[in-house]
Amino acid sequence: MFNLVIHNDEEIKSELDRMLWENKEVVKEAQRGEEVFADNQGWLDTEEWADNKSIYRLEMLSKEIRENADVFVLIGVGGSNNGARSVISALQKEGTPEIIYAGNTLSPNALNKILKRLEGKSVYLNAIAKNFETLEPGASFRVFRKYMYEAYGDAAAKRIIVTGTKGSSLERLCEEKGYPFLDFPWNIGGCYTAITNVGLFPMAVAGVNIRELVDGAHNMQKRLHIPELENNIAFQYACLRNLFYQKGYRVEMLASFEPQLRWFYKWWIQLFAESEGKDNKGVFPVASEFSEDLHSVGQFIQDGSPIMFETFLEVLEQQDSLIVEQDALEDGFDYLEGKDFRDINKIAYKATVMAHSRKLPCITIEIGSLDEYHFGQMFYFFQFACYLSCKMMDVNAFDQPGVEAYKEWMFDSLGKR
Ligand code: PA5
Repeated sequence: MFNLVIHNDEEIKSELDRMLWENKEVVKEAQRGEEVFADNQGWLDTEEWADNKSIYRLEMLSKEIRENADVFVLIGVGGSNNGARSVISALQKEGTPEIIYAGNTLSPNALNKILKRLEGKSVYLNAIAKNFETLEPGASFRVFRKYMYEAYGDAAAKRIIVTGTKGSSLERLCEEKGYPFLDFPWNIGGCYTAITNVGLFPMAVAGVNIRELVDGAHNMQKRLHIPELENNIAFQYACLRNLFYQKGYRVEMLASFEPQLRWFYKWWIQLFAESEGKDNKGVFPVASEFSEDLHSVGQFIQDGSPIMFETFLEVLEQQDSLIVEQDALEDGFDYLEGKDFRDINKIAYKATVMAHSRKLPCITIEIGSLDEYHFGQMFYFFQFACYLSCKMMDVNAFDQPGVEAYKEWMFDSLGKR
């Protein structure tokens, strides 16, 4: 189950129809794939980098690690760790290695703390980098490689798995040192790599059923590549974003009442910020964890500058249940007695939509349940929708000129040649 619901009035719906009609060539072009983006669209067909053979290899390699590791250090930043982290934090299986994220900070305090956590544990490491020029993962890899050799001597080589691009200096390093090597797809940019070795391998180490996840993504691919455009929910979502943008809403807030989605927000924010925020255009992506954030930013959303529209992620079937029991103490909460938190949480969602949709454009993306299959669906859905949204805004979804400026200053200051 994966639906898009519009909470506002009929006017939005009729404007959406116009927008769908006006942009129908955009989606047809995207469905075909574009020659000009040949170096960036390896994700469009999930079969290209997540075929049966690749999945099998990841399952075998991750099984060995699950059996032997206490800790698995994931070295990567941005697109090289956000996809895996969003699924692992929600669905990691009990009894699998603790996953520690490194390569995303330059803070000596944070790095020293990680090193301490490794002491006395059986450690495996996965270094993930497309270019192997990015400072955070490159510098961290040096630190943790040293730790591994000190702890395991030459046997460290079997415990260091590298995900890099064929022909890169990282691949040469692997050949020299004998590290197992996984392909980082040459034709996919970091934030579109969740359904490739980049995201799937760490997920498999955490016991996530990656076959189910790829299945969900593949199912969504089929659903979004249909000729009947009026039923294409990614196209509808992309049109709505552009419509709200044209009306002056410059911020999109993704929100849900399910804390398990905490790290998924980060993946989503990166996807839209890096793809769309260029040429002085784009909707600024932010996220809120409800119900907690209703007690902070909720005030602004309801009553502050009308700058944002809201996209709720709603999980329809909750696995968990917890009943509020009778209590002898008169604490003023007897009205909750016998009610399930599952239903209370849902009522909070519905009440929030009622209140916010009077002020702002609000839509909901409903997903059946929070499992591997639906994560796969969400990855493909948002990637495809983001690409469409960028096309409508006339920006290149796949380059990142904006992150180069600070890097030049930094590399100059650090003496990089
Ligand atoms: O999405 C992207 O392209 C970026 O976020 C990269 O993933 C990030 O900068 C890390 O790059 P690399 O994998 O080359 O170290």
